[in-house]
Amino acid sequence: MNEKYSIAIDGPAGAGKSTIAKEVAKRLCIEFVDTGAMYRALTYKILKLSIDPNDYLGIIEILTNTKIDFRNQSIYLDNVNVDKEIRENYVSQNVSYIASIKEVREKMVQLQQQMAKSKSIIMDGRDIGSVVLPNADYKFFVTASVKERALRRYNELVNSGETNISLSKIESDIIKRDNIDSNREIAPLKKVEDAYCIDTTDKTIEECVNMIVSIVLGR
Ligand code: DC
Repeated sequence: MNEKYSIAIDGPAGAGKSTIAKEVAKRLCIEFVDTGAMYRALTYKILKLSIDPNDYLGIIEILTNTKIDFRNQSIYLDNVNVDKEIRENYVSQNVSYIASIKEVREKMVQLQQQMAKSKSIIMDGRDIGSVVLPNADYKFFVTASVKERALRRYNELVNSGETNISLSKIESDIIKRDNIDSNREIAPLKKVEDAYCIDTTDKTIEECVNMIVSIVLGR
């Protein structure tokens, strides 16, 4: 395919969106943007500066003085690579609140739309098909059961060397995050009508990637 096109992937935390989107991007030779990483980077900065996640004015001030960009699929916060830091559990536990703030969303959406302007792109998040790229050429809603998503996150943390974790706590954190993401006033997580739904609970990453690539290539 030569013409510019865009793929939107939305879904709840831990459904496998980013892993799938990254692989699809590689197969189609297009750029991948993980929009959750942008909300995570801002949250990381707020927590690192010991700003209370409920301090609305403090957050707005940080927002105006923050630079977030991607270079070679890595995320940079004020010109520093924060790929690893933004995956920490304390960031995951606070990011939904920060992502529900109107001004935060406006700035992120603007940056994301800018990124999609000049090149083919696959973008994953919660509001890509509904708000960021409502005219995306392909839209997918990727989901999985809460139990499966919690188990995946648990294994991920165990593999990264974390020892002090409980599966039931991860599961309750996921339920809490789903609730905030799905019920917030602005751009809540939802499946838009024209999105193709993929339930990854009993599927391998490769199966999901193949499904998306086939649809995009019209096979
Ligand atoms: O996909 P993730 O778990 O890295 O996302 C982190 C948080 O950011 C999640 O709680 C929802 C929020 N988010 C959002 O509100 N809109 C997006 N486009 C992407 C993520």
